[in-house]
Amino acid sequence: MENLRERISSLKKKRNAIILAHNYTLPEVQDIADLVGDSLGLSLEAAKTDADVIVFCGVTFMAETAKILNPSKIVISPEPDAHCAMAGMCGPEDIKEMRRRNPGAAVVGYVNSTAASKAEMDVCCTSSNVLDVVSSMEEQDIIFVPDSNLGAYAGSRAPSKNMILWKGFCPIHQSITAEMIDDLKREHPDALVLVHPECRSQVIEKADVIGSTEMMIRSARESDSKGFIVATELGMKHRLMKECPGKSFYFPDVALCGVMKMTTLNSIVRCLETMSPQVSLPADISERAYNPVKRMTEIK
Ligand code: 13P
Ligand code: SF4
Repeated sequence: MENLRERISSLKKKRNAIILAHNYTLPEVQDIADLVGDSLGLSLEAAKTDADVIVFCGVTFMAETAKILNPSKIVISPEPDAHCAMAGMCGPEDIKEMRRRNPGAAVVGYVNSTAASKAEMDVCCTSSNVLDVVSSMEEQDIIFVPDSNLGAYAGSRAPSKNMILWKGFCPIHQSITAEMIDDLKREHPDALVLVHPECRSQVIEKADVIGSTEMMIRSARESDSKGFIVATELGMKHRLMKECPGKSFYFPDVALCGVMKMTTLNSIVRCLETMSPQVSLPADISERAYNPVKRMTEIK
């Protein structure tokens, strides 16, 4: 492994590359990354980096988002088949049909979408700025795609908005149930409950803190509590343990996102050596997706 790490470090210098990794990626990938974070934090870094090459370790919509923000840079997605299941649940034609059925409504889309779907949105959001994005909209009627859980959560916090929800969901977060949280709470009654807003509403109701992966880490770091029940994907354990020594984290053991684990140190070496596979988007999609994604990075 040391050999691979050294190889990555020298290839990175040679290519003037930056490595971005999502909080759910493998521990060894997080440990060699220049930045580990949530979707918004990584997009912001991708927007401002002066590196020539961005290696995006996560799922494909994240690398596509970096490319939309930086059309002239080389963006590499080490595992081009690492597609987020939720991103495949709502296509551009679905959004056009929703618009036809709801004239005058704005389309707010979760960043967990393909570039072609983003091109049909008015604005994108992440789990970290969804409430600010929804409440910033002039329109009262908001078509929200693809995540019905995130959209319902945003609607519950913005009662003046009429949320028209698409039926998508994250299968990983959906597998976490309220009973699992109750069981963990019985075992660890003093633990704070941190919940990702992709979870079903019955799980969100159990939360002390609701937020993106980065917000969960910040809350655990800053809290006086010593124990936390964490309703999100298991990859988060690595950073939580690293950044919060002496604290304990209890996860429902079901939430494992396989596509987030596809990127390995070997795949990073391979892509830096071959400079492939590069993200390439049709120009019209890239151009139309730019404004919704750019707006997302401006609402924090
Ligand atoms: P975050 O933006 O909260 O890291 O979420 C990304 C994701 O895919 C959660 O499933
Ligand atoms: Fe997609 Fe869910 Fe995996 Fe996040 S955890 S990348 S939403 S499938």
